[in-house]
Amino acid sequence: MDAPPRRPSRLIVHGEALAWLAAHPALPGTSVVTSLPDASEMPALDFEGWRSWTIDTARRLLSWVPDDGVVVFFQSDVLRHGVWIDKAYLAGRAAEAEGAALVWHRIACRAPAGTPSYGRAGYSHLLCYSRTPRTPRVRPEGDVLTEVGHKPWSKAMGLSACLAVCRYLCAETATRVVVDPFCGHGSVLAVANALGLDAVGVDLGARKCRAARRLVVEL
Ligand SMILES: C[S@@+](CC[C@H](N)C(=O)[O-])C[C@H]1O[C@@H](n2cnc3c(N)ncnc32)[C@H](O)[C@@H]1O
Repeated sequence: MDAPPRRPSRLIVHGEALAWLAAHPALPGTSVVTSLPDASEMPALDFEGWRSWTIDTARRLLSWVPDDGVVVFFQSDVLRHGVWIDKAYLAGRAAEAEGAALVWHRIACRAPAGTPSYGRAGYSHLLCYSRTPRTPRVRPEGDVLTEVGHKPWSKAMGLSACLAVCRYLCAETATRVVVDPFCGHGSVLAVANALGLDAVGVDLGARKCRAARRLVVEL
């Protein structure tokens, strides 16, 4: 008799992301998919403090993944005192410092193209970085996702964007485990599980961790 298919695992840790990463070296087959906290989520830091923290944290993630892994950032630009903060630029600064290359850059629409934004970006950046050279994509896909998809809460990564990323990980990388060290409600972890990948999430918020343990996505 065939053994029943293995159910992918999900571990959600209530804790601080950087401490967890330092204590848990990544195993081969691990990739990170995450959305780094916005300045509005880190009231203890002033703007310059948040900016430095963001670049340092992106560097930590890029150096933490194993050689066969990638780091995907899902980041939305914000308008602050009349000036746009380009989060793709911050991720790019970190990647350059770590010698990581941009494997692909996709834009995910948060609002239909042409919708007036009134200071809220109508798009998010999806940025995939690797420290090791990668062969050109076997399955080239559109670099504009027409919608991010359902968001379980206001700062969540949309489920359609998560699906596009996880499908890429399954098809074109050796990824078996997806880690989101700032997992919120665990959108990408639930999608990873739905595609058969194991998932690990970390978040400072106890309620968010509970939501991340519960979220189920059916494809
Ligand atoms: C942009 S949200 C992530 C949203 C998530 N990707 C989702 O789809 O729900 C950033 C998350 O980081 C968490 N956070 C902020 N600082 C943290 C830290 N130092 N360690 C772990 N989690 C942190 C916040 O509680 C928040 O849930």
